[in-house]
Amino acid sequence: MNHIAPKKLFIKTYGCQMNVYDSDRMADALAPHGYMPTQDIGDADLVLLNTCHIREKASEKVFSELGRLRELQTERRATGGDMMIGVAGCVAQAEGEEIARRAPMVDMVFGPQAYHRLPDMLAKAEANRHLHPALRRSVVDTDFPEEDKFAHLPAAKKDVTIGRGLTAFLTVQEGCDKFCSFCVVPYTRGAEVSRPVAQVLEEARRLADAGVKEITLLGQNVNAYHGEDGSGRAVGLGELAYLLAEIPGLQRLRYTTSHPRDMDDALIAAHRDLPFLMPYLHLPVQSGSDRILKAMNRKHTSAEYLALIDRIKTARPDMALSGDFIVGFPGETDADFEDTLKIIRDTGYASAYSFKYSTRPGTPGANLTEQVEEAVKVERLARLQELVNQQTADFHASCVGKTLPVLIERVGRQAGQIGGRSPYLQAVHLDGSTDLIGAIHDVEIIGTSTNSLVGRLKQAVAA
Ligand code: 5AD
Ligand code: SF4
Repeated sequence: MNHIAPKKLFIKTYGCQMNVYDSDRMADALAPHGYMPTQDIGDADLVLLNTCHIREKASEKVFSELGRLRELQTERRATGGDMMIGVAGCVAQAEGEEIARRAPMVDMVFGPQAYHRLPDMLAKAEANRHLHPALRRSVVDTDFPEEDKFAHLPAAKKDVTIGRGLTAFLTVQEGCDKFCSFCVVPYTRGAEVSRPVAQVLEEARRLADAGVKEITLLGQNVNAYHGEDGSGRAVGLGELAYLLAEIPGLQRLRYTTSHPRDMDDALIAAHRDLPFLMPYLHLPVQSGSDRILKAMNRKHTSAEYLALIDRIKTARPDMALSGDFIVGFPGETDADFEDTLKIIRDTGYASAYSFKYSTRPGTPGANLTEQVEEAVKVERLARLQELVNQQTADFHASCVGKTLPVLIERVGRQAGQIGGRSPYLQAVHLDGSTDLIGAIHDVEIIGTSTNSLVGRLKQAVAA
């Protein structure tokens, strides 16, 4: 029998949900090679950093983490053991050889499009370890290969790694062709690519069979999805939603992140027709000023965004909206910033993420000279966050007195409590038996706390 001694794999994940998904798939790819996940870095034979490059200081964070890992590796080697180190993700893609040069103890450096080649890279890196340290070279793979990464990765193993139980991520699209002038994604993740429909449906079916009730489809620009069906026709995200709604056992569908320009009629119709498609939409606008939107290369105006929100709300009146905002983009004046506050007031968000602009090397924004002072950015960010925090609180408060279907996912923080998510992605806590975990129950909302709702079980749902 071919016995492989079990080894321990520790993955530290930075950044977005796509990285969370990728980390799970890397673990899946390494499982047949004897690597089992561990939560204890001190125990690991292989440490992978799955990095994010979206905002400032990302590379420096990675280099300082590598400094700490080097100490751990040196300690191990002093006692006859070893620990391999890999850097994956968008910093690896952007920095490549620079990481190998500055941190030569790193065994592997590889970008998001190379995860399916991880076992091969690992074999090369393991062979390298028998060389004299002076002769070792990190294995670097930052190509954008022709082959389909997903077709070459092993099937997602819900029970081994994605084991977060009732909810799961499923990446359907990667990369971006929008080229917003502040953003590194088109460079680190590459051109927009969609997974074929059959591949997505198969993965979704497998997740549903393993007990998953809610799937979140992921993509840097997920609503630009255009996967091919069996006859080579491009299927959009709206049509895909109808197909996913047919999968037995699957009860809820979400997707993130979307671009306003790709919110087409078919997707809006899916929101009108499918209760299965949750009424929560992350639709970043970034700024409310048309001048800044143009400089950002967003390809839409504030009026177009608001008209789109109207159409979406006509289709699904209870749609809760979420967004991303950047303050202090080069050239942003007080009046531009006021326009951003105005679009926030006009839209009304259930939640929002906001960031100070940071220059990303290699993006068109990096060539703009009219930088906004740090103190101004800090002040604008605080004002914007005060407004969206108020909107979030108002949205939570508007739910009190309503009965919402809640997917009960876990035991609560306090004894006798259970917790789950509302259709609008709010955390809900209530008193109840752990037997209720795993199904959707009607919950009357009786109060709010800062980041969640407090509920009371409305009725026991008949089995
Ligand atoms: N500076 C600040 N925020 C940024 N984002 C992307 N690039 C930058 C940048 N250079 C924000 C955008 C995006 C979110 C994921 O991160 O708001 O929607
Ligand atoms: Fe970046 Fe814009 Fe693409 Fe989003 S749509 S990933 S912000 S370039």
